[in-house]
Amino acid sequence: MADKTYENILIEREGGITFLWLNRPDKRNAMSPGLHADMDDALTWLATDKQTKVLVLGGKGEAWCAGQDLRLYFRGTQDNPEARHKANSDSHSWRWERLTSFPKPTIAMVHGFAFGGAFTQLCACDFAIAAEDATFGLSEVNWGIIPGGLVSWNLTDMMMPRHAMYYAVTGDTFDGKRAVEIGLVNFAVPKAKLREEATKLAEKLIKLNPNVVRYTKEAIRAVRNMDDKQARDYLKSKQDSLVRNDKEIREQHGMKQFLDEKSYRPGLGPFRKVESV
Ligand code: COA
Repeated sequence: MADKTYENILIEREGGITFLWLNRPDKRNAMSPGLHADMDDALTWLATDKQTKVLVLGGKGEAWCAGQDLRLYFRGTQDNPEARHKANSDSHSWRWERLTSFPKPTIAMVHGFAFGGAFTQLCACDFAIAAEDATFGLSEVNWGIIPGGLVSWNLTDMMMPRHAMYYAVTGDTFDGKRAVEIGLVNFAVPKAKLREEATKLAEKLIKLNPNVVRYTKEAIRAVRNMDDKQARDYLKSKQDSLVRNDKEIREQHGMKQFLDEKSYRPGLGPFRKVESV
């Protein structure tokens, strides 16, 4: 199927990697109601798109995302409860529900500015790589609003609590290197290498068994809010379900390569996926 086209976003699919771009560069990719609707539709489609094995979320132009569009999302819907409800629902749906339940790995590829509401899709992605000189900011305090939607929850979930408090209350900005230190992104790289590094990570993920990757990422997210007994029980059922659903896992190809063929050691390189399975 050809790439779908949208007014506010752009999709590029190549070699299993799908780059999904916010595409309102003139407005620094501020999120309008139209952009929310486009993203919700695109992520619904891409979840089952066979060409999409890894999703990379980027931003066209000088910014990754300048947060909610203050003019169109806030002011533009303040006297229209129906439009406000639709925008709010689409906004939450794609930035949190669709991304956190996306069945394939997701990578936030952040450059330029990342502000306010953009933290939700940043935290919803499984991995995040930032340009060293990216600028992150919780500017809500300047507009007389608290980091709402899910942003405050995202901050305390992802960042060390002292840093969440500091950056949310002061609105101070920080760069990509600092974002690594406080647990918000995995790596910071020079801006010129951002796409290359995101592609490298995507290619590494594509080489792994997609069901193990999916079940692992779901498990890592799920156990955080469980106690030890619930987690143990959940992980056992999850593993049983993985074995039931995947022939390669059932046939224990990884262990055969290590124990019988002696052709693979996890400390020395990635497991060789069995293409024929
Ligand atoms: N909502 C609405 N419009 C926004 C926007 C936002 N969040 N962020 C940027 N824009 C618009 C600007 O109004 C401007 O529009 P115009 O050309 O019609 O005047 C355009 O995008 C370019 O922005 P500009 O400020 O000129 O670009 P810049 O590169 O100098 O600065 C930012 C970029 C992101 C630092 C700056 O625009 C900014 O601080 N934006 C607010 C971000 C924010 O607080 N987001 C959280 C919202 S809760």
